This record gives sequence, structure tokens and C-alpha cells, in this order.
Amino acid sequence: MKIIMLGAPGAGKGTQAKRIAEKYSIPHISTGDIFRANIKNGTELGKKAKTYMDQGALVPDALTCDLVMDRIQQEDCKNGFVLDGFPRTIPQAEALDAALKNIGQTMDYAIDVDVPDENIVNRMGGRRACLNCGATYHITFHPTKEEGKCDACGSETVLRDDDKPETVQKRLEVYHAQTQPLIDYYKEQNILKTVDGTRPMDEVFEAIVAILGA
Ligand code: AP5
Ligand code: MG
Ligand code: ZN
Repeated sequence: MKIIMLGAPGAGKGTQAKRIAEKYSIPHISTGDIFRANIKNGTELGKKAKTYMDQGALVPDALTCDLVMDRIQQEDCKNGFVLDGFPRTIPQAEALDAALKNIGQTMDYAIDVDVPDENIVNRMGGRRACLNCGATYHITFHPTKEEGKCDACGSETVLRDDDKPETVQKRLEVYHAQTQPLIDYYKEQNILKTVDGTRPMDEVFEAIVAILGA
């Protein structure tokens, strides 16, 4: 099963993608997590990505596409994968389709987690992320057991650098300009499914399972 998670920043793509990955035993591939891991490890890719991410802008397609194409050709992806945060532009979507076509495959589902902008800014201020294992929490909706400490790995949880209100606003603008057109792109391919992302996390997941099958 090959799935794309679409949705605005903070819509809950990562939250739901992790659950999908677990339930259907497929890898969760988040370009944002990959970039953040590279930043943390001080790699060349991380240094390049950080300049864009801190401004709420997109990392250039050239840097992003190669990374994902390599990743989806690894052994653990042969039964499928869930992409979170990729594609984010029409050229990225076209690159993905072209790469899959080469191996005689197509994507199965593009799930749009739909949340209006008004709800987003609130959510982001409360998000806490573990930069070690990628786990995501929310101070109100999904708190850690011990404050400031990741339930999964015990590392410190932090407010992401790009979750400041002014950067969130910029990310929303970039989303509407560059990523939202993908909704029509996948509608035309007949693989678009929409879920109401304003519902509680468990209900959003139930709606997704109803689409993918139990
Ligand atoms: P990325 O890491 O992908 O960030 P994003 O798309 O902005 O999305 P987020 O991770 O912020 O939100 P999410 O939808 O995963 O929500 P989450 O589940 O955490 O990208 C970051 C940056 O990297 C980009 O700005 C760009 O610069 C670069 N980048 C990445 N991919 C790229 C690409 N393909 N091309 C170019 N550049 C790229 O949930 C948010 C919060 O809400 C959490 O606290 C969560 O606990 C809570 N929450 C979730 N669901 C619910 C719910 N139903 N009810 C209440 N709270 C909820
Ligand atoms: Mg995310
Ligand atoms: Zn952790």
C-alpha cells in the first residue's frame, strides 16, 4: 500500500502517518523528519535545508526529490510506504510518478487531512517534538507522561524552530501557493480521499482506516 499524506502544516499528517505505518507495517517517510535529523547531525544537506526551513520556505525540489527516490527504492519499501510531507509541489509529484512508472507502479491513496488555517496556529504553538526519535506531542491534546521528556526515547522535547507564529503564517502561505494544487492533481488521478482533520486524533485515524481497510 503506497500512501501520500497531504495537508497544511500542523494538520496532523505526521501524527496519522505514524499510526498508519504501525498498523499496516509499512515505513513512515517524512521529509521534514529526514531534514531535521540531518540538521541535528550537522550534515551538508542539513545545513542547506536549514536556511529554507527556518524561513518557512520549501527546500528546493532538486535536494528533496533525490532523497525520496533513494528512500523508496530500499528493501523495506517493497510492500509500500506512507509519505508524509512529500510531494509538496507539482514537480515533486511528477518526479514521484515518473520514478514509480519506471518500476511499473503507481500511488494508491492521497489522503488530505483537512484543517482550516484558523485551527493551525493554535496547534503549532502547543506542539512539542522529539528531535531524537521524531515523536510528536501536544501540550494539551497529547501531552508527554513526564513534562519535557519523550515517552518513546526519554530525550528532551522541544518547540520546533519553525513553529514560531510568524513562521507558521509563512508556511501556511507557502502551503496554499505550492502544495494545495496537489489536491486537484490527485483528484484527477482518482486517488484523493479527504478526512476531517479537526476531529480528535483517534477519530481521524478511524476515518483513515475506513478508507484503507482494516
Ligand atoms: P514538515 O516537517 O513536513 O512540516 P509541515 O508540513 O509544516 O507539517 P508539520 O510537521 O508541521 O505538521 P503535521 O501535519 O505533521 O502535524 P503533526 O502531526 O505534527 O516540513 C518542515 C519543513 O521542511 C518545511 O517547511 C520545508 O521547509 C521542509 N520540507 C519538508 N518536506 C519538504 C518537501 N517535500 N519539499 C520541500 N521542502 C520540504 O500535528 C501538529 C500538532 O497538532 C501536534 O502537536 C499534534 O500532537 C497535534 N495534533 C495532531 N492531530 C490533532 C488532532 N486531530 N486534534 C488536535 N491536535 C492534533
Ligand atoms: Mg510532520
Ligand atoms: Zn523521542
